Amino acid sequence: MTNITWPLMHNNITRSDLDQIIEYLKMDDPKLTQGPQVRNFEEKWSKWLGVKHSVMLNSGSSANDLTMMALKELKGGGEVIVPPLTWVSDISSVLRAGLNPVFVDINPETLAIDGNLILNAITPSTRAVFLTHVLGYNGLTNELLNGLKDLNVLLIEDVCESHGAKHDGNKVGTFGWASNFSFYYAHHMTTIEGGMICTDDSELYDVLLMLRSHGMVREASSSGTKEKYRLKYPELNPDFIFAYATHNMRSTEINAILGIEQLKRLDQSNLKRTENLLKFLSVINPKVYKTNFQIEGSSNYAFTLVLLEPDFILRDKVEVTLKTAGIEFRRGLSGGGNQLRQPYLNGIKGIPQPADFPNVEHIHHFSWYIGNFPELQNTEIERLGSLLNSI
Ligand SMILES: Cc1ncc(COP(=O)(O)O)c(C=O)c1O
Repeated sequence: MTNITWPLMHNNITRSDLDQIIEYLKMDDPKLTQGPQVRNFEEKWSKWLGVKHSVMLNSGSSANDLTMMALKELKGGGEVIVPPLTWVSDISSVLRAGLNPVFVDINPETLAIDGNLILNAITPSTRAVFLTHVLGYNGLTNELLNGLKDLNVLLIEDVCESHGAKHDGNKVGTFGWASNFSFYYAHHMTTIEGGMICTDDSELYDVLLMLRSHGMVREASSSGTKEKYRLKYPELNPDFIFAYATHNMRSTEINAILGIEQLKRLDQSNLKRTENLLKFLSVINPKVYKTNFQIEGSSNYAFTLVLLEPDFILRDKVEVTLKTAGIEFRRGLSGGGNQLRQPYLNGIKGIPQPADFPNVEHIHHFSWYIGNFPELQNTEIERLGSLLNSI
């Protein structure tokens, strides 16, 4: 295999980020488990996004797990509408919470679940729509938002791949009942591993704080919540009342220090990434590759390369060409394509056939993502375009 010269992500943790951690570690007896740094990052993140509350976790997948657990606790059992093009934990979290996933195909222009198909799939059992904003594209439409409001169905946004993307001028992640972010290394910004759940709902916030930390009631922010449990369970030590069957998904202070540093340059980095994406879409051949994405408000850490027509021979040639040039890629975009093809869903009752979702099937076979980081030069993007156009 050729050495990789263009990785999926490059230099996402800088020397100066690392120096901040080293400074912190020079303190006598620094606190390392979840504490004021996590709290500080949560507050800064809430302000940046425009929400009341944020809860930092050890991963974006934990964020998915906790929102689904909280949904079940607060709103009861039922169906959750999900896309087949997403990360594994967007579906496994639904199953683990004891909810039923209902799959809906994507809109090829946004790569997110199609708003009209969502509205048609809603039944009296629908508890929420769990929409993934795929690789930086805004997946919302006003029709969808209004339709959900009219039908009184909750929206939960997975923004793990789309930090800073906007819908109608407001950041995605502010439209849902809850929104989830990941700070894994290869995303817009990183805390090494990490995640965040954001919400304006104070009741949900309290439940998330407990769910994050063994279900412990003492973690709740409202004194009313703590009092309620204390009175109901007088035989229990108030320090050890476990309200939910969960476990420990807390972050450490080190991760939060990185988050605080990284957030300072997130908007600037995203501007450059958007410039890069526009350049990429302008240099690839629109007769061979898809260029008509809905890019308004997008914030992409990856270039999305999609064949216009199904063509396995061309697909293989693209992969050989990229590999030979040392350009790293992932076939299938988010989560490797159609989740309905994955073994973890084998044997689960009611799971539909992959072929029933033709738009995701096309993405599964004929698409890739390639890293888009702020340091990329126009000349490199032009070279990539020429390479792809020469196949
Ligand atoms: C859409 C989406 N949701 C959730 C996750 C899970 O995030 P994490 O890797 O931080 O667990 C990812 C992973 O990268 C993702 O792409």
